[in-house]
Amino acid sequence: MEDLRLLVITGSERTGSLNRRLADVASREASRMAAHVQRLNLRDLQLPVYDGDLEAASGVPATTLQLLDAVEVADALLLVTPEYNGWPTPLMINAFDWLSRLRAQGERPAGLAATANKPVALLSASPGPLGGLRAMNYLRQYLQMAFAMIVVPQQFALVRAGEAFDAAGALKDERAAASVRNVLASLGALAAALRAARSPH
Ligand SMILES: Cc1cc2nc3c(=O)[nH]c(=O)nc-3n(C[C@H](O)[C@H](O)[C@H](O)COP(=O)(O)O)c2cc1C
Repeated sequence: MEDLRLLVITGSERTGSLNRRLADVASREASRMAAHVQRLNLRDLQLPVYDGDLEAASGVPATTLQLLDAVEVADALLLVTPEYNGWPTPLMINAFDWLSRLRAQGERPAGLAATANKPVALLSASPGPLGGLRAMNYLRQYLQMAFAMIVVPQQFALVRAGEAFDAAGALKDERAAASVRNVLASLGALAAALRAARSPH
């Protein structure tokens, strides 16, 4: 992950979010692996629920540009989301739906151009026995199909997440910690391979 610009986004920003805690673990690991980590708080963007009439009347909300800029400069993304009834959260999906509506303007790329061929990895956490596995699989499909992102095959769902962290915020189970590192290493390897393939010889 050396010198990789990694954008970390969570699908929950509630106080005490288990997914944010997992994102914290992954961010610390990525920093240890020499990545430059940037966090973006989707809640801070205060995006309304997507509505075509709203878009027609006032355009795409200006804060969507923060997501666009963050995605554009990143070499890779890490998305960490809970599942709500088996799906990624509205916070995550709504932000990406707005991003998809941004058109190119001057030097600024369209939302879908910024995401195209960008590597991304997925993590999730849940107090339940599936750890958000179903949401990750839908999110994988959504990002590949609509956003042309390259989703790494390796993913990790933290089950029983309510008991998974110690007082310092680390994962108690070394196998879980190794799984997070494995996802990050896979993402780093993919991003490096893509970068090498794109750079002129
Ligand atoms: C509307 C709603 C639906 C949920 N559906 C699921 C679910 O399908 N599977 C699951 O494992 N947990 C489900 N949960 C429980 C969440 O995994 C749990 O609230 C989790 O802590 C949310 O993530 P966070 O701690 O990062 O906010 C649901 C929670 C809510 C509020």
